[in-house]
Amino acid sequence: MPESIPSLSQFLDELSAIEREAAPEIAAARSADALEAVRVRYVGRKSGRLSPLSGMVARMSATDRPAAGQAFNAAHTRVQEQLAAHAARIQAAATSSAPAVDLTMPGRAVWRGARHPVTIVIDEIADIFRELGFTIALGPEAESEWYNFTALNFPPDHPALDMHDTLYLDGGALLRTHTSPVQIRTLQRYPPPVRVLVPGNVYRRDVFDASHAPMFAQIEGLAVDEGVSFVDLKATLTHFARRFFGSATTRFRPSFFPFTEPSAEMDVECQICRGSGCATCKMVGWVEILGCGMVHPSVLESAGLDAERYTGWAFGMGPGRVAQQRYNIPILRELYDGDVRVLGALGQ
Ligand code: DAH
Repeated sequence: MPESIPSLSQFLDELSAIEREAAPEIAAARSADALEAVRVRYVGRKSGRLSPLSGMVARMSATDRPAAGQAFNAAHTRVQEQLAAHAARIQAAATSSAPAVDLTMPGRAVWRGARHPVTIVIDEIADIFRELGFTIALGPEAESEWYNFTALNFPPDHPALDMHDTLYLDGGALLRTHTSPVQIRTLQRYPPPVRVLVPGNVYRRDVFDASHAPMFAQIEGLAVDEGVSFVDLKATLTHFARRFFGSATTRFRPSFFPFTEPSAEMDVECQICRGSGCATCKMVGWVEILGCGMVHPSVLESAGLDAERYTGWAFGMGPGRVAQQRYNIPILRELYDGDVRVLGALGQ
C-alpha cells in the first residue's frame, strides 16, 4: 500500500515535536554512554526518531520538498550540535580535577563552640563578688595533706582523710578535695584585709550519680580583716543570692565544718519547683548551694595570723548546683558528661 503524501504543515509539526523532546534528554545525559544512547535514539541512521522524516521528504510534492528538506537538515544539524556541545561538557567534567559540586546538598553546620554552663555561672558569680571588692585567687589541684586538711583544723582521724574519700597521688600528695586550702595559701602570702574568690576543680572518690561526680567545680570565698563578723557573712551571701537568683528566698541552717566556727549552710528556694518539692531538691523545696562560717581561729593561726586581732568568714559554693538551678538541669551528671547536645543548648 503506497503511503499517503504528508502535508508540509504536518511534517513541520512532527519535526519540531521530535526536536523539542530531544533537547531535555540530551541535557540530562550524565555520561558519554548515556549521551550516545540519546544520539542513537534521535539521529541514529536506521532507527533514530528523525530517520523516518528524511524518507517523508522524498515522498513529498515537488513544491513542498525543498522547504521540507531545508527544515529537516536544519533540525538535524541543531540536534547534532546540541549533542556535540553536551559531549564536550561531559568530557570537561570528567577531566576537571575540581570535585563536582552538588548545589542541592544541605550546607554543613558550623560548630562555633559555647561556654560551659558551669563556666558561665562562675563568671557571673565572680562579677557579683568583684563589685564587693573580692579578687580572684587560684591554687594547685595537687595539694599536700597539710594544706588540704591539717592547716584547716581537720583532726588526724577525720574520715575525709580516709583513702575511700580522697584520691592520693604517688609521693604523699593528693588531689584537693575542696578549694579551702587556697584560704591558707592566700593568707600566707597577703596580709589582711583579704577578700578573695577562688574558683577551681576539686576531686573526691565518688562515683557518678544524680548529684555526685568524682570531679566538680567549687568556688571558695574568704574575707579576713579586723572586726569582721557573722553579720558581714550573712549580709554578703544574701546579697549575692538576691543578685544571682533575683527574688529567690534563702535560708541559713546551722552546720559543722572543722575550719569554721560557727558554721552554716545556705539554701536557696528550689528554682526548678519554686519550693513546692521535686526530685532535684529531694522534695524539700530547698537546695543547699554553699557551706560557710566564721574562720576558725586555729586556721588563721596555721596561716601565721594573730587570731586575737583578725577575724574572717568564708564559704564554699557548688557552681554545678547553682547552674542546675539556673538552667533547670535535674541531673547534675549532664553537666559533666560533655554531651554537646545538652551543653550547646545551655551555653552561650
Ligand atoms: N570546703 C567545704 C566542702 O568542700 C565547703 C566549705 C564550707 C568551704 C564552709 C568553706 C566554708 O569555706 O566556710 O565541703
